[in-house]
Amino acid sequence: MSPKAKTVYRCTECGADHPKWAGRCETCGAWNCLVEEPVGFAAAPRSGAQRRARGATALGEGGNVAPAPRLREVQGGATERWATGLNEFDFVLGGGLVPGSMVLVGGEPGIGKSTLLLQVAARLEAAGHATLYASGEESPLQVKLRADRLGGAAAEVPLLAETNLETVIATAASRAPSLLVVDSIQTLFTTDLEGAPGNVGQVRECAARLMRFAKESGTAVMVVGHVTKGGGIAGPKTLEHIVDTVLYFEGDPTLDHRVLRATKNRFGSVDEIGVFRMTGEGLEPVANPSELFLGDRDASASGSALTALMEGSRPILLEIQALATKAGFGTPQRVSTGLDNRRLALLLAVLDKRAGLTFAQLDVFVNVVGGMRLQEPAGDLAVAAALASSIHDRALPADVLFLGEVGLGGEVRPVSQAERRIAEAANQGIARVYLAERGLPKRRNPRVQSVGVRTVHDLFARLFA
Ligand code: TYD
Ligand code: MG
Repeated sequence: MSPKAKTVYRCTECGADHPKWAGRCETCGAWNCLVEEPVGFAAAPRSGAQRRARGATALGEGGNVAPAPRLREVQGGATERWATGLNEFDFVLGGGLVPGSMVLVGGEPGIGKSTLLLQVAARLEAAGHATLYASGEESPLQVKLRADRLGGAAAEVPLLAETNLETVIATAASRAPSLLVVDSIQTLFTTDLEGAPGNVGQVRECAARLMRFAKESGTAVMVVGHVTKGGGIAGPKTLEHIVDTVLYFEGDPTLDHRVLRATKNRFGSVDEIGVFRMTGEGLEPVANPSELFLGDRDASASGSALTALMEGSRPILLEIQALATKAGFGTPQRVSTGLDNRRLALLLAVLDKRAGLTFAQLDVFVNVVGGMRLQEPAGDLAVAAALASSIHDRALPADVLFLGEVGLGGEVRPVSQAERRIAEAANQGIARVYLAERGLPKRRNPRVQSVGVRTVHDLFARLFA
């Protein structure tokens, strides 16, 4: 065995090195900031005086002089991509996996990360690419049972049950696969660091080495990362900076659809989403997400309103449900799922002040159906309509849709890309769209009636006259 490389504990706040781990950095006094680092990275910079004494060229001591061609001389066209044929996955990535890229896939346990990556590997394997699936999470039998459910080429994917980074990389280097899957980064460890797998130093070092492996070998590396309670990927924030692409796989585990979202993508646009359905035989891409989200809607109930959100370049229709009921005793509750609680509080205050709807004595629940999140203010008008519908206990017409941001004065503001949202509404059989008067599109969609409103008060007068 080779002797263990030396390590130091470096403060992530001030950069000071410590020979031993401690809860607090002695130099700057910050807590919980020491991270184990291999000593090679920790060589102390020379002092300014030393540098000046040695001259500028001496600073690059040990380095080679490298060519720096002009950009016009750089060869090569658009990035090559491997399409997996799993359409929604390829779409989120911007057309498929890029050779030599590193993709981090985050998500809660049980959401389907391992299933997704095994399916991706199987698809590539079927297309004649070599793959390697390194699992530190599950035994070969567990992975095999999953492969049996998926059928097809999943059984052909080579499995490496291993948690040692050096072994994973050595094996991958000898087999030179197109795709290396690492499930998960938190179970991997390098013998160069003493910390346990999953600690900040280990995760960072393993990720950095896998990234170098990807760049040097041209193998696409896909890495699973667990998420913390806060929803971020566990480990250092730098993990997301290291990799080329960050995908989040989300959804309500009790429902069968899943959403894959790119939050960072060096090779494509971010904020595109891909929608899948978890079936008995793995994940199935959903070509028409609006239909899926509206499938179980009961339009005859009060408190249900539709809006169209832009998810990246695609508009998707969503249902918003609101329920306002008499509060028990104590402070009335405000519970929202898929909508920021402060946004709900703001809308309730606006409805109270500008439209005379009083929620003070009522418990209010708002739910964005299908585990989706309302991140755009464009959904405000639908939330307001759902709340008003619930308080009046009168159902809204089944085929109307609401588009608009609601301001503090109760005014309705235009949304971006109204025409595309309206076109999607028309595709889904919507007959009428309420939106800001100023935002009425110049080109009217012949299949939908667009109705301009100025304020929420104006809207409610039309809806509940
Ligand atoms: P998994 O990929 O193990 O999730 P993760 O790696 O994110 O923890 O999948 C978890 C769930 O998916 C599990 O509860 C079983 C279910 N599942 C199906 O419903 N159908 C299938 O074909 C497969 C393989 C899994
Ligand atoms: Mg898993």
